[in-house]
Amino acid sequence: MTQSWATFGADLHLDLAAGRGLRAGLVEALREAARSGRLAPGTRLPSSRSFAVDLGIARNTVAEAYAELVAEGWLTARQGSGTRVAERARPRRSAAAARVRHPARRGFTYDLRAGAPDLGGFPRAAWLAAARRALTDAPNEAFGYAADARGRVELREALAGYLARARGVYADPERIVLCAGFAHALTLLAGVLRARRVRDVAVEGYGLDVHRELLTRAGLRTRPLTVDAAGARTPDLPGEVGAVLLTPAHQFPTGVALTPARRAAAVDWARTTGGLILEDDYDGEFRYDRQPVGALQGLDPDRVVYLGTASKSLAPGLRMGWMVVSPGLLEEVLAAKGRTDWTSSALDQLTLAEFIRCGAYDRHVRGMRLRYRRRRDELVAAVSGRVAVSGIAAGLHAVLDLPAGTQASVLRAAAWQDLALETLSRYAHPEAALPDREALVVGYGTPSTSAWSPALTALTAALP
Ligand SMILES: Cc1ncc(COP(=O)(O)O)c(C=O)c1O
Repeated sequence: MTQSWATFGADLHLDLAAGRGLRAGLVEALREAARSGRLAPGTRLPSSRSFAVDLGIARNTVAEAYAELVAEGWLTARQGSGTRVAERARPRRSAAAARVRHPARRGFTYDLRAGAPDLGGFPRAAWLAAARRALTDAPNEAFGYAADARGRVELREALAGYLARARGVYADPERIVLCAGFAHALTLLAGVLRARRVRDVAVEGYGLDVHRELLTRAGLRTRPLTVDAAGARTPDLPGEVGAVLLTPAHQFPTGVALTPARRAAAVDWARTTGGLILEDDYDGEFRYDRQPVGALQGLDPDRVVYLGTASKSLAPGLRMGWMVVSPGLLEEVLAAKGRTDWTSSALDQLTLAEFIRCGAYDRHVRGMRLRYRRRRDELVAAVSGRVAVSGIAAGLHAVLDLPAGTQASVLRAAAWQDLALETLSRYAHPEAALPDREALVVGYGTPSTSAWSPALTALTAALP
């Protein structure tokens, strides 16, 4: 196989199959480039003379290859505008490529699944302004490979201030590690736990399967804790698990806050056994009714790893998260991070730092909190008297308990309207001893502003 580079505005890498004849090889390579979209429709190809020079072959060979592809309809040749990739050569996306673009979520007319914020609420103008300032001020070294595996110090400092002020986290910039979202942080911690020969990790009986899978893939066994009205039953934490993953501020998905007694039990367990508490504070900013529930990490920064994310407060597409680790854990976490070399861009880190520093993050969270609170109130009003609503003091989702025996028909009615809904049981750990509860987890943050009212109407139409 000979490989050649041709330069015409942009470089095109062509694999010319050896032994097939130069012309046939060139025809096939160009056809493949047009078919796959590597050569976009309308792209102007180099003249046959300069292309021949680039490839080190006879000009006639190139001219004949072009002529063949024009005849097949892949290229067009017009006097004065040269040879171009034909418009009809627009590539078809394969089914596999389509799956990769949307791994988890197919589009529904109405979507009330939990997990995403209102993406239409992303603060584009304020983010752009922060990005402009961040880029203007960025030192040249910011464009190089990261010098510090913890991530940009500017963002670590901004987060330390914000987390201490807004979430009661004991945060020192030296002990903050920036990650590509919570999932990345959890993956790193799972690796650290395995390296410490931990085998079992306790998780909440209701939780996200993707997070359980991350732990399992790292070689850890997940052991479910029962979740009740006071949160996860931390007094039941077994002595032999090496860590526990909790959502103390707003249990996902039941929405209850871990009570002070359960918090104390978790910390006691960690102190007596030497185990770690992994605190997932995924939507701590969005609390409506009571005083904010502070982070558990403040109780014992040596035993609790605090994990935060921009996925709810800003957008999951940013892939930005952070963890605050104890000094004893830092080296191991950085060793794990260094190996994966998987994190968010330095420019995004600098932008978020500026976004927090200038107060735009607080303003955005306040604005979104109002928006989500209004939706929550509308949801509660729309379903009142028909189903019991819980988990509404915070976050972007609520739990609707259905009358016994009605869940299947509600799901059928939802499907009929192309309304995406999820049940509480979908979040249950397969080994959890949980009561039979027919309930829906309704993500009221997900729809866009214009889609919210119709989605709510579709939901109420599906309820018994
Ligand atoms: C319980 C929980 N934890 C964490 C996250 C955030 O994950 P990530 O930062 O990987 O997007 C989410 C987001 O949906 C969540 O629901």
